[in-house]
Amino acid sequence: MKNPAQEERLLAEAARSRGNALCRRSGFAVGAAIETDDGAVFGGCNVENSTYGLTVCAERVAIWKALSEGKRRFTAVAVVTGADEPTPPCGACRQILWEFAGDVPVVSATTGGKRARWRLSELFPHPFDF
Ligand code: THU
Repeated sequence: MKNPAQEERLLAEAARSRGNALCRRSGFAVGAAIETDDGAVFGGCNVENSTYGLTVCAERVAIWKALSEGKRRFTAVAVVTGADEPTPPCGACRQILWEFAGDVPVVSATTGGKRARWRLSELFPHPFDF
């Protein structure tokens, strides 16, 4: 990530969005945030529903919000959970992030203060590109 302030800003938005998580099925609240090349930040939370399988992860909610506002270039992604260790985006989200955001830096933080950082190409080394 370009600088510490950028990381703090993204994580703060991810943490704020996490507060809106609809996660009574799993009890696992996730917040995400994505930054665009013009400096905008879009947050997202996981949204579960009664059929379970239609659940959408926080990362995809964040990027859908940005894409639907016309944003097309992305510079960083952040995730916040209450897990013991920082969690990377799930496989489905890696595919979507790769397709629309490319090889962005990803930072994941726990509410307990742990952090991990990757590039998306580390998490998703052999992407399906079509
Ligand atoms: N979840 C996310 O929001 N992002 C991830 O990267 C992993 C999983 C959500 C989906 C579901 O609502 C809950 O976490 C448990 O899997």
